[in-house]
Amino acid sequence: MAGTAWLLVPRRASPPMSDKPALLDIIATCRPWLKPRLAELYDVRAVAGPDIRAVATDGTVGIDAALMDRLPDLEMIAVHAVGYDRVDLDHARSRGIRVSNTPDVLTEDVADLAIALMLAVGRQIPRNDAWVRAGRWAREGYPPLARKVSGRRIGVLGLGRIGHAIAHRAAPFASELAYFARAPKPGAPWRHFADPVALAAAVDVLIVAVAGGAGTAGLVDKAVIEALGPEGMLVNIARGSVVDEAALVAALVDGRLGGAGLDVFAEEPDMPEALLTLENVVLQPHQGSATIETRDAMGQLVLDNLEAFFAGRPLPTPVD
Ligand code: GLV
Repeated sequence: MAGTAWLLVPRRASPPMSDKPALLDIIATCRPWLKPRLAELYDVRAVAGPDIRAVATDGTVGIDAALMDRLPDLEMIAVHAVGYDRVDLDHARSRGIRVSNTPDVLTEDVADLAIALMLAVGRQIPRNDAWVRAGRWAREGYPPLARKVSGRRIGVLGLGRIGHAIAHRAAPFASELAYFARAPKPGAPWRHFADPVALAAAVDVLIVAVAGGAGTAGLVDKAVIEALGPEGMLVNIARGSVVDEAALVAALVDGRLGGAGLDVFAEEPDMPEALLTLENVVLQPHQGSATIETRDAMGQLVLDNLEAFFAGRPLPTPVD
């Protein structure tokens, strides 16, 4: 009888109950040891559902309100990044969900990359590398001259931890160092601007170092880009959302901006096709913290924050 066929199906044992807290792992990029370690400590799930008490995510994946709402037992979000602009913080707060990130451990790497991009654009390092590899040195001689970086006026947009580290590295290169922040930073020895356009007009190189999110979206707009001008250079190691990417590309194509060093983009990993063809642009696939040492430290901080949360101790690096 068709109606009783189900009786013949052997009963499956229900899955063993884990005494480990359930955790949803949606980290896209981390050191290979982190995921097995999470699996030793937590009942790691790949799919949202009840019982999940924590999420491990990263800066570009984040977690939105809709996913949080598919996790009714969620109490903790550990972000494997300093930037948490892809985490709906208001929603997390409204539900009393704690959030941690990985500040400080990546500051030096991100600042190093900002300086590397400034030098790479100014001295045309990728173009010249390609010149050598293509055999053009032997065939055609030397490539066209690059531009001097030392002695330029350098501006840092945002003087948080990473902005500070960039300013300290950039100051020895600069004839003048200035920064944008809403208010002057106590103790910062550099010239303060409260207006991004005024800062861009006063410098030759503008390094974007503000946090991403709604408060800074489009802060580097057409007016800022044009104030930098045809001799100017933009470096972005912050978030693609901070820059009006269409205005940036148009200015680079038309020669209204001299060059750009970009580690971040509005819709990673996609980017406007035109960027791929421009010689005055150096591109990186979001590499700010991408060193073995720093990613090890970030992974450890994710573990430390989760451990502290489940032990009822203060989080080492809370966002809230
Ligand atoms: C990377 O972009 C980070 O926020 O750590």
